[in-house]
Amino acid sequence: MTNIPINRSTIENKIDQPIKILTFKKINSTNTFAKEYLLDHPNQTVAIIADAQTAGYGRFKRDFYSPQQTGIYLSIIIPTTITNPGLLTTMAGLASITALKKNFPEENLKLKWINDLLLNNKKVGGILAENINNSNGNHLVLGIGINLNTADFPKELQTIATSISSNDSIDRNIVIADILNQFFSRFPTYQTGDFLPEYRKLCDTLNKTVRIVNGNTELTGTAVDINSNGALILEDTKKLRHIINSGEVTKVFLK
Ligand code: BTN
Repeated sequence: MTNIPINRSTIENKIDQPIKILTFKKINSTNTFAKEYLLDHPNQTVAIIADAQTAGYGRFKRDFYSPQQTGIYLSIIIPTTITNPGLLTTMAGLASITALKKNFPEENLKLKWINDLLLNNKKVGGILAENINNSNGNHLVLGIGINLNTADFPKELQTIATSISSNDSIDRNIVIADILNQFFSRFPTYQTGDFLPEYRKLCDTLNKTVRIVNGNTELTGTAVDINSNGALILEDTKKLRHIINSGEVTKVFLK
């Protein structure tokens, strides 16, 4: 693998607004680091980027496979309170997929509600938003993980995960800067839901039969819309509509 190394100043030169950037060759998890970092450095907007993670995680603490050099492992700290996690996660997904489409225009990249990035029905990335409230105030830690050109996945991931490219000399700095630019340009207004028309167009979950699992309960129906809060509207076989919020979902299966 000859990917161009992550370089802080290259990213700094390509982003539209100045934010603090920290880079690491290897870290346990950029989200874990972010949560520790903000305790001593409150009220700062910071992007944390690693070349590899040894304990990357996703929703419900599921492992996020994060091998050296072939992915994007990014966390953004913002001093703010998330009032609508559904809108934040969908906006961050849209920002990420838009940046990826710019860099890989040939690829069939889509969003799976609520937090997955897909290529040809397999997962290429995910979003994890965490709200941290302590005596220093409220901070958002937003994690974005993407398999850019990971070649070998562990056996258990081979049927569900894939990478975006087989090109082995991707400049991840450009892609990361594009993600940050997309995210920060949408952040000031995301709570209005202004991005939702774009989200719906790229959302592969809509008009499909889906099975929503929440702990021990399950609901199957047709995904008919994403509402103004970023929630999924599911219509069951009796034509009853259910509003599914992000916090109420353990797993979404496209049938
Ligand atoms: C998911 O698919 O459930 C979300 C995956 C989020 C993974 C990213 S990688 C960067 C950041 N650090 C982590 O440990 N997790 C997020």
